[in-house]
Amino acid sequence: MAEERYIPPIAFEHQYKGIWYPGVVLDSSIDRMRTFQVREDDIWIVTYPKAGTHWMMEIIGLILSNGYPDKIDRSLYSSAIEMIRVNQKIPRSKEEEQEHPIDWSPFMDVIDRAPSPRVLLTHLNYDLLPQDLLKAKVVYVARNPKDIVLSWFDFAGKNPALPLTMDKAITKMMNDEVHWGPWPQHVRQFWELRDHENVTFVLYEDLKKEPAKHIQTIASSIGRPLSEEVLDRVVKFSHIDAHRETFKKMAESGQGGLVKGSGPAGTFKFINKGVTGRWKQHFTVAQNEAFDEWYKSKMADTDLKFTFE
Ligand code: A3P
Repeated sequence: MAEERYIPPIAFEHQYKGIWYPGVVLDSSIDRMRTFQVREDDIWIVTYPKAGTHWMMEIIGLILSNGYPDKIDRSLYSSAIEMIRVNQKIPRSKEEEQEHPIDWSPFMDVIDRAPSPRVLLTHLNYDLLPQDLLKAKVVYVARNPKDIVLSWFDFAGKNPALPLTMDKAITKMMNDEVHWGPWPQHVRQFWELRDHENVTFVLYEDLKKEPAKHIQTIASSIGRPLSEEVLDRVVKFSHIDAHRETFKKMAESGQGGLVKGSGPAGTFKFINKGVTGRWKQHFTVAQNEAFDEWYKSKMADTDLKFTFE
């Protein structure tokens, strides 16, 4: 009989220490991160959701596997590490979480046993991450917030339990209510760290424009500079069309769960359009003006500049 797969209720939202999270992120999984055992040879992909997380996972995976998508070790790839990927009943309220705490050990065992280099993914902001995070290699991906809002709307908006309109998605961004917290703080904290020897700060828009150049920079930053031949393959297979094909195959074969019984990669639509400036077809003039005002108030005093076109 086919094994029944447990799909967690991503619709359930809750707030912890002033930040909104989906139901697959628990208070206890956030708290746990401060004492997480970081390894020096870990590679951490840190992003605000919808900034190109899965694209970077594929790029790093390809770099580590000589450019062959079917050779990527995806054992830790099914989700951000603060998300639940254990086949247990997920609490739907703070009270339930206290009454029936999640047993993290199966999840942590998988991570503890994983061979180096581990590729770990998180959306948590810097303050919530392990204190010695920067002893590992960190690749931070940033993307212009208008395309992030649209991507989030596309991803979560049709979920009947949320549900989002474009207007609501934009307002939530401006009110710091998007899951995983305020976007300006998230990007600015890592921008401040950009010169740290273990941090590589990548802009989604730059990566779109000049993939080979930025992929080589990322590869060198994690100590894996690429030959031209391998670089060509990484560029080819991380292109959205090839990436979509890879995901399709993985989803069809049910591959990608972190622990037995967890959801297959590809269950959720992480590969959408993959272009810059799509927000222009979806923001009204009034929404755009309000957003620009908000953006200016949060970002005018930083030299971090985004491409919106
Ligand atoms: P859009 O919804 O704008 O198309 P995340 O992985 O952080 O959830 O980000 C999802 C966004 O990254 C989506 O953006 C998705 O299409 C885009 N993306 C995924 N794979 C990509 C790739 N190979 N190249 C470019 N963009 C990609």
